[in-house]
Amino acid sequence: MNSLESKDLNLYYGNFHALKNITMGMKKNEVTAFIGPSGCGKSTYLRCFNRMNDLIDNVRIEGEVLVDGVDIYQKNILVDDLRKHVGMVFQKPNPFPKSIFENVAYGLRVNGTKDKKLIEERVETSLRQAALWDEVKDKLKKSAFELSGGQQQRLCIARALAIEPSVLLMDEPASALDPISTAKIEELIYQLKENYTIVIVTHNMQQAGRVSDYTAFFYLGELVEFGKTKNLFTSPKDERTQNYVTGRFG
Ligand SMILES: Nc1ncnc2c1ncn2[C@@H]1O[C@H](COP(=O)(O)OP(=O)(O)OP(=O)(O)O)[C@@H](O)[C@H]1O
Ligand SMILES: [Mg+2]
Repeated sequence: MNSLESKDLNLYYGNFHALKNITMGMKKNEVTAFIGPSGCGKSTYLRCFNRMNDLIDNVRIEGEVLVDGVDIYQKNILVDDLRKHVGMVFQKPNPFPKSIFENVAYGLRVNGTKDKKLIEERVETSLRQAALWDEVKDKLKKSAFELSGGQQQRLCIARALAIEPSVLLMDEPASALDPISTAKIEELIYQLKENYTIVIVTHNMQQAGRVSDYTAFFYLGELVEFGKTKNLFTSPKDERTQNYVTGRFG
């Protein structure tokens, strides 16, 4: 069964038709990359899977969005529970105005975890997974805003991991990172794949090639091509995909 799936999904911002008939599925233990020129709908589509678009006025959705086979736009869906299950890392780091420790502990506390030792363990594990522990272990009580941009991004990844979601949506997680942090995040994605369904939006073709098993190419709100990353890069079926992956436009 697909972990994430959409069927004939159309999304409108007011009169603007931002996603056009998107039908595709993503499986557990696989990394899927979304690529395509700026404004083609990658973030919009990603946000459908944890209902982040609900927060935007004037959005209308038609069709189905399924997580583990369940239509998440049904009336009885509890959006908070959905977001525990489907975590997200945004393009711009958005730490809370709290300490480094509390940023990572936040989701656990909100979910009612009181056990101090468990929280400490989970914070450390998550920071280690996000390749940040060594840099912050001696200043956990300091404000998250004292971290560099790249460190803040890794903190946000740790925050997403702390509540142990089963799906991780990452919107250009490495665009603000230096090559070393980027390599650490790519390594993390590789490790997380064992337990998670991962979707990553990236403008970096090499990165898509390195981290993903499947790649989806979007263009002007359409899913133009979706397939094994290797095939999509070496023998794209659609001319638009070919032009994009060879750098002829976008
Ligand atoms: N809140 C919004 N209200 C109205 N239109 C929006 C909104 N968010 C996005 N759009 C429009 O929807 C289209 C898709 O935007 P989206 O952010 O999904 O693109 P993207 O592929 O993620 O681009 P980028 O690579 O620049 O991040 C764009 O034309 C954009 O202007
Ligand atoms: Mg985007």
